[in-house]
Amino acid sequence: MSRFPRGFVGDSSMEEPETPLRRPSICFRPINPSDLERLEQIHRDLFPIRYESEFFQNVVNGGDIVSWAAVDRSRPDGHSEELIGFVTAKFVLAKESEISDLIRYDSSKGEETLVYILTLGVVETYRKLGVAKSLIKEVIKYASSIPVCRGVYLHVITHNNPAIRLYKRMSFRCVRRLHGFYLINGQHFDSYLFVYFVNGSRSPCSPLDLVVLVLNYVRSGIKVVASKLTMKQEEKGLKGVKCKDNMRCLLPTQTKRNLASSGYDYV
Ligand code: ACO
Repeated sequence: MSRFPRGFVGDSSMEEPETPLRRPSICFRPINPSDLERLEQIHRDLFPIRYESEFFQNVVNGGDIVSWAAVDRSRPDGHSEELIGFVTAKFVLAKESEISDLIRYDSSKGEETLVYILTLGVVETYRKLGVAKSLIKEVIKYASSIPVCRGVYLHVITHNNPAIRLYKRMSFRCVRRLHGFYLINGQHFDSYLFVYFVNGSRSPCSPLDLVVLVLNYVRSGIKVVASKLTMKQEEKGLKGVKCKDNMRCLLPTQTKRNLASSGYDYV
């Protein structure tokens, strides 16, 4: 597994035993070292993949990861600072990111960056209160406050409907479907890639986006026809080559490089 998790996630089937009996008083604050145990526990409960301890150390010590905690200050008995939700994110250089082709660069601004959301979670009993929406808003506000930052992006597994609805409702744009992006218990799952542009980067549904979308669509159509023609020719002459191509298609994990060349669809 990579040093840090890919923004993922998951499975909302895990139950939290506690129920907020009072009217919650949700507040947001940075994550700090005293949150370590609880942070690890919630990640274990919510996500079907295990994260390395280096990741958690980085989150709580504010290494190269930025994060926000949600707590319910109305909770009694010393629980008022206990995490009930969180979002973790890191900076990446825009030109080195997998969405470098979608960024409108401004050379006068210096080295442009993006914020990549790694994990987002809210414990079961605090869902549907707008906690996740507020956490994402914090990330967007933070990204917008940095002039060289061009956007916020993330991956989400294609069957995670609550999270997908959340990102769509918050005007994130789904720009790609990545085939076999996640490997969970030996099985591959696709992910969607969502982006929210900030600081004068592309606005959602601008005319330019539509032009790019149409061009990409036409380009991918031409590629499909061309590859089908090539395969037909190969089938006629070289059976071994076809087998080789099939093997390449079945490679289990995708690097940024091979994603860029073949592993995704524009959506
Ligand atoms: N009253 C009633 N409904 C409300 C209220 C309210 N006051 N506030 C928000 N809602 C509704 C929203 O309209 C939304 O409804 P919808 O799902 O029907 O569209 C729903 O509640 C969820 O919105 P939020 O409350 O902002 O989200 P929530 O805090 O419930 O968290 C999340 C959503 C993070 C997806 C949660 O379900 C979760 O932790 N799931 C497991 C982990 C996960 O999947 N994380 C995201 C993976 S992607 C990634 O990490 C990059």
